[in-house]
Amino acid sequence: MDAKAYDAWYETSRGRWIGSRELELVRGMLAPRPGESLLDVGCGTGYFTRSLARRLDGPVSGIDIDPAWVAYAAQRDDLDIDWLVGDARALPFGDKSFDLAVSITAVCFIDDQRQAVREMLRVARRRVALRLLNQRSLLWWRKGRGGGQGAYRGARWHTPGEALALFHGLPVTRVEIKTAVWLPGGGWLAVADLDG
Ligand SMILES: C[S@@+](CC[C@H](N)C(=O)[O-])C[C@H]1O[C@@H](n2cnc3c(N)ncnc32)[C@H](O)[C@@H]1O
Repeated sequence: MDAKAYDAWYETSRGRWIGSRELELVRGMLAPRPGESLLDVGCGTGYFTRSLARRLDGPVSGIDIDPAWVAYAAQRDDLDIDWLVGDARALPFGDKSFDLAVSITAVCFIDDQRQAVREMLRVARRRVALRLLNQRSLLWWRKGRGGGQGAYRGARWHTPGEALALFHGLPVTRVEIKTAVWLPGGGWLAVADLDG
């Protein structure tokens, strides 16, 4: 899908509503402290990267495997965000390079999802938030069945048990699941609290 068309969805009334619900839930679960740094993995066109950067006072970076989408995100940026092209399965950062890491509807498009989660936990010092797609939702019934429609094509939809399993055996002290959108059945999030 074209980056501009994808980003424009967030300007529709439905996109604005869903985007703001997800943003507030993610921000609440990350609970950023003053000056903390954030990495957005699979940042795409940068809608959430920009939105979070406006609400944080620390440095913010976005990384995505698609150079065209990263270029679009950089061109829309007036906040001095650091944009990189790279693979979530092999993040080009040292251990604990960021205080916080977030990934919104990106891990569900990656074949080795546990590797992407493992990498986020490695580079984040304090908290990680994932936005996944709920396989037990009306949204899945409408948009996810049979391989998915539109921007959902090819996405993996998780049951809550499958989402928790992504973290099994990894260095987390607490995993929490919350729902961003109840109807028509939107997203829910798993947050790994590394502080415990
Ligand atoms: C549905 S978009 C979500 C973009 C953005 N996070 C948002 O919520 O608007 C999924 C994104 O995941 C990215 N992606 C897929 N596989 C990836 C990988 N292995 N590493 C990094 N990004 C990846 C895609 O390029 C795409 O930008």
